[in-house]
Amino acid sequence: MADKREKFGGRLAVILAMAGSAIGLGNIWRFPYMVGEHGGAAFVFVYIFATLLISLPVFLAEVMIGRRSHTNSRDAFARLSRQHPFWKAAGYLTILIPTLIACYYSVIGGWSVEYFIKSCGLAFVQMEPDEASGFFGAFVSSTWTPVIMHLLFLGVTVAVVAGGVKSGIEKFSKISLPVLFVLIIMILTYSVSLPGAGDGVRYLLHPDWSELTPRTFAYAMGQSFYSLSLGMGAIITYGSYVSKKENILATSTGTAVSDLMFAILAGFAIMPAVFAAGIEPGAGPGLIFQSIPYVFSKMGTTLPVVSSVVAILFFLAIIVAAMTSIISLVEVGVSFLVERAGMSRGRACLVLFLICGSFGVLCSLSFGPLAEMKVAGMTVFDLFDWVCSNILLLLMALLAVIFVGWVLPRRVVHDEFTNGGRLPFNERLFPVVYFLIKWVAPIAVVIIFFTNFML
Ligand code: PHE
Repeated sequence: MADKREKFGGRLAVILAMAGSAIGLGNIWRFPYMVGEHGGAAFVFVYIFATLLISLPVFLAEVMIGRRSHTNSRDAFARLSRQHPFWKAAGYLTILIPTLIACYYSVIGGWSVEYFIKSCGLAFVQMEPDEASGFFGAFVSSTWTPVIMHLLFLGVTVAVVAGGVKSGIEKFSKISLPVLFVLIIMILTYSVSLPGAGDGVRYLLHPDWSELTPRTFAYAMGQSFYSLSLGMGAIITYGSYVSKKENILATSTGTAVSDLMFAILAGFAIMPAVFAAGIEPGAGPGLIFQSIPYVFSKMGTTLPVVSSVVAILFFLAIIVAAMTSIISLVEVGVSFLVERAGMSRGRACLVLFLICGSFGVLCSLSFGPLAEMKVAGMTVFDLFDWVCSNILLLLMALLAVIFVGWVLPRRVVHDEFTNGGRLPFNERLFPVVYFLIKWVAPIAVVIIFFTNFML
């Protein structure tokens, strides 16, 4: 039965699928506004450091749990701990978190759909630059369109998931990532040439260390986990589709580095435009939706055709990148419902659509009609994002490293990391990686976790 689980076909397919999960709105939409809200270059430096030193070991830990257990993320902990009640319970978190994230992730996916449709009607190219950046405010605060777009985006997502892992996810990632990469570079090139863009570049390169607060660390870590899809079962689930012959150090590092690169490129594509347009870098979730249309509008004055085409392709690529990520969120819940509750794939997809669709509507409305409804000073959207990225992801990532560092026998971890001693380079690196997983990552995550409550 277990052998019938689908597998990714080869190393490139693994990296692409994992990178497809990792690279998404987290890099293009969330990273730039987090940088803007939390101190510019100082945040970027902490982020890079956190990704390589802490997130990468956590990533490895999650892939190991997935590949070793060869099952969905809820059962993975249970199976590897021989049904220990604590780990059985912990497994449920890995189902809850991605489902919660999918609720608000698809709202942003919906925004991208709206922007794509607008670009097809050549809207931004024809608007005045300020009008193009101001479009966002009116759009998100309206009631119906964002909700409809959210449901549309989510609907297509679950339809792809219903198609199965291999045919749906792999194919999608293979096309979208290279396209997105090329488009980001194009936008970056144009954006840094805008008058006033230099301030944006400086903002990303020259750290003001006085901006470095415990908060910077906490949010950089949360962002790094979020961006690598850690702490929620997505990588555990994907890990379970990785073949035993694969070198997980190579695939994990490949994924982490490409994710990092994408975030940085997105930062350089967006921040200069933000400064050129005179938008406040700390403007929050709308940052790219305000700055990028400004770029297209400006570009439209001299290069109308190029601008129109790039705008359309750009939002399409964002939609696809967002979709390859949210697919991995929904896949966690689906594989659980299919394997545990014995549901058919189609029915499991429908259940997730109903749950994420309804909560997502609340998140969407929190930019408009429900803007005044606040819990602990946060709107529903902010609350979902904060609880997931700054609390639950950290908690789950902590459990994953504790599990690999302290619960699994060292021999098993070694076996997974070196493919039974067959990978000499991994063999040499093992003590370092094991130390990072066993000590460094858990301690760092605990400190940051508590920092979050004290802020
Ligand atoms: N990592 C994805 C991104 O950066 C988001 C995501 C989060 C995907 C969690 C899966 C799980 O957009």
